[in-house]
Amino acid sequence: MLGLKSETPVKWAEIVMQDLNTFLTDHAYNEMKAAQSAMAVINHQPDDTEFVNTMSALAIEEMQHFEMVYRWIQKMQLQLGQESQNAYAMQLRKFFPKTKDRQEKFLQKLMLSSLMEARSCERFDTLIPVLEPQYPELARFYKDLFVSEARHYRVFLDYARKFGGKERIDQIWDKLLTYEAELINSLGQKPLVHG
Ligand SMILES: [Fe+2]
Ligand SMILES: [Fe+2]
Repeated sequence: MLGLKSETPVKWAEIVMQDLNTFLTDHAYNEMKAAQSAMAVINHQPDDTEFVNTMSALAIEEMQHFEMVYRWIQKMQLQLGQESQNAYAMQLRKFFPKTKDRQEKFLQKLMLSSLMEARSCERFDTLIPVLEPQYPELARFYKDLFVSEARHYRVFLDYARKFGGKERIDQIWDKLLTYEAELINSLGQKPLVHG
């Protein structure tokens, strides 16, 4: 799916079903972090009107997603808990060598955001059929989100290619996907979006 090199086993979705409160909490904070990531890249390309408009709209959209997830938490009489550490994101960042080069940092951020969007999509897609029998409306909500996040995956990757050169980014991207597949295969035991 979306070019990813590994698929999440259904067992992960079953773990989520055991603890929807933790999952929805983690998901809510992921939306907030996605908004922050979109805001953080604006500063890298402030002269590019189209880019600033796109990222600004994306940040607002992600905060709307936060609001929607929070509404689900309230509707299901659950509680927004504390943000948990995103081990996946931390490990994913380690793929890239440390650099002080601003442009490289920018490209890395774009690729990391794109990949996290893609993996969220894949996780939602795994969760939807498992949610459906018991929570059809929540499953529908995830179907709608899938469409938005799949669009974001493309937006970030297209900008990485635009600013970093298609050939070069595609080479890095392929290696990053291999690294990510190994990483995600070592996870899948927690009721978290990327856990
Ligand atoms: Fe989102
Ligand atoms: Fe997104």
